[in-house]
Amino acid sequence: MDEIRIKFKACLLLVVLIQISSAAAQQAPTDPNDAAALNSFKLMWKNRPPNWENSDPCVGGWVGVTCNNSQVISIKLSSMGLEGQLSGDIGALTELQTLDLSYNRGLNGPLPAEAIGSLKKLSNLILVGCSFSGRIPSTIGDLEELVFLSLNSNSFTGEIPPSIGKLSKLYWLDIADNKLSGTIPVSSSSTPGLDMLLHAKHFHFGKNQLSGTIPPQLFSSNMSLIHLLFDNNRLSGSIPSTLGLLEKLEVLRLDRNLLSGSVPSDLNNLKNIGDLHLSNNLLKGPMPNLTGVDSITYLDLSNNSFTTSDIPQWILTLQSLTTLVMENTQLEGPLPQALFGIPQLQTLLKDNPICHESVYDQPPAPYCTPQRYTSSYSTKAENCTAVSCLSDQKLSPTCKCSYPYKGILYFRSPSFSDLFNTSYYGSLENKLKETFQNCALPVDSVSLSSPRKDSDNYLDLDLEVFPYGAERFNQSGVLNIGFVLSNQTFKPPQIFGPFFFMGSPYEFFLESSSSSKNSVSLGVVIGAAVGGLVLLLALLFAGYLAFYQKKRADRVIEQNNKSFSSWDHNSSGNIPQLKGARWFSFEELNKCTNNFSEANAIGSGGYGKVYRGILSSGQLVAIKRAQQGSMQGGVEFKTEIELLSRVHHRNLVGLVGFCFQQREQMLVYEYIPNGTLKESLSGKSGVRLDWARRLRVALGSARGLAYLHEHANPSIIHRDIKSTNILLDDRLNAKVADFGLSKLMGDTEKDHITTQVKGTMGYLDPEYYMSQMLTEKSDVYSFGVLLLELITAKKPLERGKHIVREVRISIDKTKDLYGLHQLLDPAIGLGTSLKGFEKYVDLAMSCTEETGADRPIMSEVVKEIENIMQFAGLNPNADSASTSGSHSGGHSKHPYNNESFDFSGTCPPHKVEPQ
Ligand SMILES: *[C@@H]1O[C@H](CO)[C@@H](O)[C@H](O)[C@H]1NC(C)=O
Ligand SMILES: *[C@@H]1O[C@H](CO)[C@@H](O)[C@H](O)[C@H]1NC(C)=O
Ligand SMILES: *[C@@H]1O[C@H](CO)[C@@H](O)[C@H](O)[C@H]1NC(C)=O
Ligand SMILES: *[C@@H]1O[C@H](CO)[C@@H](O)[C@H](O)[C@H]1NC(C)=O
Ligand SMILES: *[C@@H]1O[C@H](CO)[C@@H](O)[C@H](O)[C@H]1NC(C)=O
Ligand SMILES: *[C@@H]1O[C@H](CO)[C@@H](O)[C@H](O)[C@H]1NC(C)=O
Ligand SMILES: *[C@@H]1O[C@H](CO)[C@@H](O)[C@H](O)[C@H]1NC(C)=O
Repeated sequence: MDEIRIKFKACLLLVVLIQISSAAAQQAPTDPNDAAALNSFKLMWKNRPPNWENSDPCVGGWVGVTCNNSQVISIKLSSMGLEGQLSGDIGALTELQTLDLSYNRGLNGPLPAEAIGSLKKLSNLILVGCSFSGRIPSTIGDLEELVFLSLNSNSFTGEIPPSIGKLSKLYWLDIADNKLSGTIPVSSSSTPGLDMLLHAKHFHFGKNQLSGTIPPQLFSSNMSLIHLLFDNNRLSGSIPSTLGLLEKLEVLRLDRNLLSGSVPSDLNNLKNIGDLHLSNNLLKGPMPNLTGVDSITYLDLSNNSFTTSDIPQWILTLQSLTTLVMENTQLEGPLPQALFGIPQLQTLLKDNPICHESVYDQPPAPYCTPQRYTSSYSTKAENCTAVSCLSDQKLSPTCKCSYPYKGILYFRSPSFSDLFNTSYYGSLENKLKETFQNCALPVDSVSLSSPRKDSDNYLDLDLEVFPYGAERFNQSGVLNIGFVLSNQTFKPPQIFGPFFFMGSPYEFFLESSSSSKNSVSLGVVIGAAVGGLVLLLALLFAGYLAFYQKKRADRVIEQNNKSFSSWDHNSSGNIPQLKGARWFSFEELNKCTNNFSEANAIGSGGYGKVYRGILSSGQLVAIKRAQQGSMQGGVEFKTEIELLSRVHHRNLVGLVGFCFQQREQMLVYEYIPNGTLKESLSGKSGVRLDWARRLRVALGSARGLAYLHEHANPSIIHRDIKSTNILLDDRLNAKVADFGLSKLMGDTEKDHITTQVKGTMGYLDPEYYMSQMLTEKSDVYSFGVLLLELITAKKPLERGKHIVREVRISIDKTKDLYGLHQLLDPAIGLGTSLKGFEKYVDLAMSCTEETGADRPIMSEVVKEIENIMQFAGLNPNADSASTSGSHSGGHSKHPYNNESFDFSGTCPPHKVEPQ
């Protein structure tokens, strides 16, 4: 017994020790040298990720930076919109294994030669699509661990450093699309050369200004090359016969050079060659005899000066050919009938004498017309009905509106030419989706469009990647997608051949407060690990803060008084009675919405527009701004401030503050990330509402309303309950919003108030409409309509049909689900068991009784929904996250982490605590 106990204790101790040590291992402060290097980038780079403001890179979890044992091992910052230079400080990162700065066009200047040479652990150097210039430093040859080197699409000049030949582990070498000149270096007794790269599978050298001959020594049978791309250079001389030694070669592009002489017969040894491009050179002699090269699918011999000949008979033996391009190659004589027997062959013989003769029976037209270079293909959206997106958003193939990450995929040698065969694109889409999924990236779907052949004979395709469970990607999302494409984790179907991707800049908003919360909690962990000293400092700091807060509070109260005096000058009456809400100046709100930019607009209504903003504290807010100059709604405005500042309930939207200045009326609310219930029901927000979630939304809304009616003092009638006034937070917790039309129940008018009828058609209580007598039961009626909208996802009033009546006349109590199947929203999960559904319909019917007296009060409604939930096996008091979790797709616990904001200024500290 004792022994067991001791063991148990030892075990516990061990667990504690392991936890402490692992916490320390992951979160010890960054090595000072590494920290200094990153801090120098922070100073030099524009548009670095906002969370780089945290003091320590490893502890603070800087976006794009990965650490191991306090040292930086990887930096991935593709598509961040970075601007600046790569300074020599990079050399301090001695443990760095991966550096990916791709798709930042604003990164320029030369690479720091000495510093690059000291990155002894570097295995992946990826700088695709930036604006780096100057020479490729020869110190790159010192990076013994390098396996992946992509410098393509920059402005590098000078020669290819021969030292690259020393990179014995290199498997990927892409230096295409630069301004490199000089010859291709091969080794001699004293210098290294590219012929030494025996493990390299990819030489992508296209689109440069390389000159001289292709050295015969470059190739040997010991090499592993599968893709050899020398296209678009100024290479001259003849094609070396040693090329025939590259038995594994699949793609060879020598086109668009100045190559001359005749084609060596050794090319026939390329048993695995699929794509062969020799076009647009000065090749002479007989047309090459490719008898026996059976794997070839794409052959382009165009625009050379071969001796005049008939169509060679060997072409008829190549049964895998999909594309034969022989424009302007001096072909004459009849087209052999057998040519038409090759499956899938697209033959392009334009500009040959053959096209001007009429000696054959088969009309040559389809083979002599120019290739079609563009197609209007675009990934089809599934049946999206009635989804309309904000003007700057895009509709995803899964019918969601969001801001996709965009770019262009460039395929350097696809082995097909029929751009109109859509089955190719489908396979590419599937492969992309599968890759993003396997990499656990927050991707909802992808869309491809506008396939086109460009002047380099590359196939270009526009790619859009849509975010999962949010409108936008955050920085991590984008840089991880960028990396999957820049480091070739993504491998397209083989038919597409070698590719590269060019990401477009992505418009980020700032990180949401959740990330700053993360860093705070990390900070706490460190505090515990490092111990007393930090605690002491923290206490001192807290003392300072308390003092500072007090001063600030005094100042704010002063400001409030100031604003109240301005209130007096307006038509809307007395100073609002505020509890806990604060006054904001116009300038503050202007700053934190980036001048009320369109990008930050999240909604609009009769009242005006709603904008997102972020306070300097990191808190996200929704700012409701009355239409400029309009004093309409001034009374509602004041009512809403007073009401909202007084009521605090988890099912009511909280008011943070307001602005009443310069003919501006603005209300600052807590930000509710999932949008309105209406959006969720229409499928627009990407939230799936199953039966359980709908019950929870109903319960939350009912509780909020019950609080207003029965617990607020004086009680409040909402007067405009509808699906656009129910907001859903990130745990699908319902929050009742928009109190602009609310009425206080004064003591003298205990039961009803007579008032001008306001509200929204379809939700409006008929009794109130007829009598103009407003009671709490009017809200109950609207709530009943909302209950019906929740299960049907239909507008309450559509083509003259009112939902209450429609349901009432359709109910057949003898049938399953009261026979209402036809009316229900299919997304509710019609195949699944909707336990409690009939009770729910009964409740909705009693809420929408003709006379108010027959309707229940809200607390009874709450109780009944709780009963229904229990009946359905759900816990009405559980946190809604337990059933709403799956809409995050398991990628992240907080699907709205990547809610982020366009934010260029800072707001002053906000918030006076409620009294
Ligand atoms: C982190 O460092 C430890 C110890 O040096 C090493 O064993 C481990 O492989 C490293 N992890 C990575 C991802 O480099
Ligand atoms: C190629 O490999 C063979 C043996 O596999 C070896 O004898 C020869 O030296 C190698 N050639 C080169 C150029 O490395
Ligand atoms: C092409 O090569 C094959 C095999 O090497 C040979 O049988 C054939 O006669 C050649 N054709 C021409 C036109 O030279
Ligand atoms: C052949 O050359 C002409 C004229 O330069 C050009 O327009 C055409 O695109 C070239 N054909 C191919 C297949 O490269
Ligand atoms: C889209 O609509 C078509 C025709 O109405 C239908 O055949 C197809 O199954 C629908 N697709 C989806 C994914 O609902
Ligand atoms: C489209 O391409 C696929 C795959 O190569 C092929 O099986 C199919 O026959 C092609 N369809 C047409 C209409 O050419
Ligand atoms: C790309 O990155 C992934 C993840 O780090 C890695 O597994 C893969 O080996 C990398 N690819 C290359 C070609 O280096």
